[in-house]
Amino acid sequence: MAKLQKIGILTSGGDAPGMNAAVRAVARKALDEGIEVVGIVGGYAGLIQDEIIDFTPRSVSNIIARGGTMLYSNRCLEFKTEEGMQTAIATCKKHGIEAIVACGGDGTFRGATDLTNRGIPTVGIPCTIDNDITATDYTIGFDSAMNTTLGMLDCLRDTCESHARCNVVEVMGRDCGQIALYTAIAAGAVAAIVPELPFDEKELIERIGKLSKEGKRSFLVVISEGVFTPDGKKYGEVLTPKIEKETGVETRFARFAHIVRGGAPSLRDRYTATRMGIKAVELLLEGKSNLVVCEIDGKIEALDINYSQVADRYFKKTLKPGNMESLTPAQQQAVKDLADKRYAELCEMYEMVKVTSK
Ligand code: F6P
Repeated sequence: MAKLQKIGILTSGGDAPGMNAAVRAVARKALDEGIEVVGIVGGYAGLIQDEIIDFTPRSVSNIIARGGTMLYSNRCLEFKTEEGMQTAIATCKKHGIEAIVACGGDGTFRGATDLTNRGIPTVGIPCTIDNDITATDYTIGFDSAMNTTLGMLDCLRDTCESHARCNVVEVMGRDCGQIALYTAIAAGAVAAIVPELPFDEKELIERIGKLSKEGKRSFLVVISEGVFTPDGKKYGEVLTPKIEKETGVETRFARFAHIVRGGAPSLRDRYTATRMGIKAVELLLEGKSNLVVCEIDGKIEALDINYSQVADRYFKKTLKPGNMESLTPAQQQAVKDLADKRYAELCEMYEMVKVTSK
């Protein structure tokens, strides 16, 4: 097998603190191995628009502490068309890009598979604040986003305590309740409401009323953005006036939204990004591709992207015909076991909020 000569790095999808640290690690490791490195600007769109920059070790100086992504990011629809894909492949050929490391979430990994299938070996690094890639215990950006969320919840707690108020807070996470659950536990919230688990509105309202009468002054209710009423309204906005009306506790609504995607990455994110970036280059050097780098029980490992995506769809109940059948019987069992494990993790956190918020 001829030695790899040149790789490209891109960041795609929603940005996440720590993406820069991943770019830096990939670039420095590859250059250290004598491989040329280019940055692909603006995610997969950079391959279509031919926006490629040569990297030296200094190209990634001083980015480890910065949020966002120096390579910029977007969600590129054109890349999903066969024409766009062919343009992307032509750009790779023009620049001699033999392999790609793609940093992002599930949409990014679908693009990685498309590239691998067309002859450009690609390895994915999971970067998303949502921590919603089922195959890996951890995605880069999750810790930083949670800490930013937690800091803001702590601020709200101060003012709620002063004014004897409740604050309903909608936090990010798309369809995944992990940011809501972890931050609710850490902020001492009275409830966490997440898309994956049933929620008893009557019980919460009665509890807030009772605790208020007993002298509790501040209440935080953390809701994941993926929770909607049956008629499609954002549940946090609907719940807020109900709490006030039925308990007499003045209640406000806040949405933290994209603020938590910015800011300096935490140590956890910089460290994990560095480990994963090095691993991605090692995999390509070993001639492996169509893999996603995962953290499993503290170890950095690599899993097949198709397996990872089927695991995601199985857990999120979005399987398409043939998805499960594309896996071996052993992989199918592993997907089911993993989904059970993830569900049990969520239930455990949910219980923790309940037990500690009485
Ligand atoms: O996937 C990361 C994420 O920030 C989600 O938490 C959120 O639902 C979504 O991206 C927002 O997407 P956009 O940046 O396109 O508004």
